[in-house]
Amino acid sequence: MNHIVFGVTGGIAAYKAVEAVRQLVLRGCDVKVVMTEHATRLVGPETFRAVSGNPVAVSLFDAEGKPIEHIYLARDADLVIVAPATANLLAKMAHGIADDLLTTTLLATRAPVLLAPAMNNLMYRHPATQHNLRLLRERGVHFVGPESGALACGEEGEGRMAEPQQIVDAAMGIFALEGDLSGKRVLVTAGGTREPLDPVRYIGNRSSGKMGYALAAASRRMGAEVTLVSGPTHLQPPAGVELVRVETAAEMREAVMAVAPGCDAVIMAAAVADFAPRESSGDKIKRRGKESLTLELVRTPDILGELSEGRAAGQVLVGFAAETGDLLARAREKLGAKGVDILVANDVSLPGSGFDADYNRAVLLFRDGTERALDLMPKAELAALIMREVAGLLGGKARERP
Ligand code: C5P
Repeated sequence: MNHIVFGVTGGIAAYKAVEAVRQLVLRGCDVKVVMTEHATRLVGPETFRAVSGNPVAVSLFDAEGKPIEHIYLARDADLVIVAPATANLLAKMAHGIADDLLTTTLLATRAPVLLAPAMNNLMYRHPATQHNLRLLRERGVHFVGPESGALACGEEGEGRMAEPQQIVDAAMGIFALEGDLSGKRVLVTAGGTREPLDPVRYIGNRSSGKMGYALAAASRRMGAEVTLVSGPTHLQPPAGVELVRVETAAEMREAVMAVAPGCDAVIMAAAVADFAPRESSGDKIKRRGKESLTLELVRTPDILGELSEGRAAGQVLVGFAAETGDLLARAREKLGAKGVDILVANDVSLPGSGFDADYNRAVLLFRDGTERALDLMPKAELAALIMREVAGLLGGKARERP
């Protein structure tokens, strides 16, 4: 299900937003309406509550004065629409002003934004408004309208808000652009594994699980049914995702093999241990009487290799290569050796990128030999980009090329 935050500002066209919300709900979207104070003078929040089936938010504070979790509204949205978007809203958004719930949500969200401007033709033509529109366009904001025609002020001209149907079509177009995984099953692995030495010690790694959790969230947003097989992490699992917790590489293998056969795509983002102690002591290993301790390690099962050998036709496999130095040469080698469709290579020695960071800089290597080097970007953005490529391979959308 697509989650939409629908902002309504104080333009006369606010009444048309009611119909747009109703149509989005009919199309199966979950719509949460956020109104500005001025908008509430034109249409009652009760009307939007009734058509959306969700509470309507207006203020940064609720009736008891407690702050509303605007960050959650912003974070959980797949799309933010503002209709009508007044000249005032465009100006605030263009300059990063966040003085109410709607503008705060717009500043905090990473979801695509669709604006339906509506205003008097002189306001629309004003150089300030035109400049703000250019700024927003350059930043990747989507627009629908405005149209020319009769305006609420009695004048004729440009500034009339797009019709509800056009707004809904534009929203659906953005979802299609985002890639579609509805009806698909996706398995994502995340985090590092822990290989026990004794009841209290283990061999682990620095993986935080952030990349895998972001991939699971992105897949879910694009409509997939998602299973997340995760090593120990401190992260909250994304909403609507089935979580299977594991600890060791062997447990991860078992969980993956149980789920993978029914999946359209398997994304192995987990940092699986390559070696595990041959034996794990039943009792805590004692220090007394020992000057040194030798551990014997044995290879763990190569889950990705096994998956690629036994995979069903059409299943998409994505592997990760976390390397330190000579990234591309090793990644190219691994792409072939692992038999994956996409290999995501990242240099984990770069500061602020890779293990436990919120950002990642990656190169995507495709089975057909093409490569796509990406800039440093938030893991959530990289995750969305990878899943769009997966959707492309599954036939949801044409592959993106730089
Ligand atoms: O060979 P390397 O461990 O660097 O390959 C990394 C990729 O292989 C990752 O996608 C990781 O999840 C997967 N892997 C695996 N089983 C292992 C080790 C790594 O599936 N035992």
